[in-house]
Amino acid sequence: MGKVAIVTGGTRGIGRAIAEALRDDGFTVVANYGGNDEAARAFSDETGIPAYKWDVGDHQACLDGCAKVESEVGPIDAVINNAGITRDGTLMKMSYEDWHEVMRINLGGCFNMAKATFAGMKERGWGRYVNIGSINGQAGQYGQVNYASAKSGIHGFTKALAQEGARFGITVNAIAPGYIDTDMVAAVPAPVLEKIVAKIPVGRLGRAEEIARGVSFLCSEQAGFVTGSTMSINGGQHMY
Ligand SMILES: NC(=O)c1ccc[n+]([C@@H]2O[C@H](COP(=O)([O-])OP(=O)(O)OC[C@H]3O[C@@H](n4cnc5c(N)ncnc54)[C@H](OP(=O)(O)O)[C@@H]3O)[C@@H](O)[C@H]2O)c1
Repeated sequence: MGKVAIVTGGTRGIGRAIAEALRDDGFTVVANYGGNDEAARAFSDETGIPAYKWDVGDHQACLDGCAKVESEVGPIDAVINNAGITRDGTLMKMSYEDWHEVMRINLGGCFNMAKATFAGMKERGWGRYVNIGSINGQAGQYGQVNYASAKSGIHGFTKALAQEGARFGITVNAIAPGYIDTDMVAAVPAPVLEKIVAKIPVGRLGRAEEIARGVSFLCSEQAGFVTGSTMSINGGQHMY
C-alpha cells in the first residue's frame, strides 16, 4: 500500500483532479466532501477512490473523520487542504454569517485537519501538507473580504506550520491558483468572467489538472527541501 493522502473537497473540481493525480503517483487516496452525496457517489464509482463525508469546518468532525480514515485505510501521510466555499458580497452587504462561514471552512478547515494528523506524521518522521490558497488571498478582490482574508490566512498558516514541521520531515506548502474552470468559477456572472479572462496574460482559465500537477510535485519525495513556499499557478495574472 502506498502512502495515504487525503484530499478535502476531493470529489469535485480541483480536488478531484488532485485526488486522481496523487492516485496516479502511487498514493492510496481518500477524498473528503461536505454535502453533495450524488457527486461523491459518481466520483467514487468513476475513480475507485473512497469518499468520506464531513464538514472540515467542524473541529470534532475532522478529528473523528481522520480517525475513521486511519482505522479503515491507514495512517495519513499527506493532507491536501482544498475544501473551500465562497459567500461573496461587498462589506456593506456581507452578513456576519457569510464572514464567519468562509473563515470557519476555508481557514478553520486547515487548522482542524492539521490538528487531526500532525502528531502521527511527526511520530513517523514524514508528512506533506499542501494548502490551497488563492490569487485573491494574495491580491485581494472586490466583494470578497471574507474569502480574501481566509485565503491570505492560509498563506500565513502555511509558513508558520512549515517551521514547526521541518525538523520532523513534514513539509507544508501552499498553492495559489488563479481562475480555474470549475463549478466555483461557473458561478461568476458571464460579463464579470469575461473581464477576468481579459486580464489573464495566458488568455484563458486554468485547468484543474494544472493545479494537481503542482500538488503532485509538492507531495513527492523530491520536494523534501521545499517548505513554507507558495506556488502561484495563475496564467501570469498576478506575479507575487
Ligand atoms: N476555481 C477557482 O478558480 C479557484 C481559484 C482559486 C482557489 N480556489 C480554491 O480551490 C479549492 C477548490 O475549488 P473548486 O473550484 O474546485 O471548488 P468546487 O468545485 O466548488 O468544489 C469544492 C469542494 O469542496 C467541498 N466542500 C465545500 N465545503 C466543504 C466542507 N465544509 N467540508 C468538506 N468539504 C467541503 C465540496 O464538497 P461538496 O461536493 O460536498 O459540496 C467540493 O468537493 C477551494 O479552496 C477554492 O477556494 C479555486
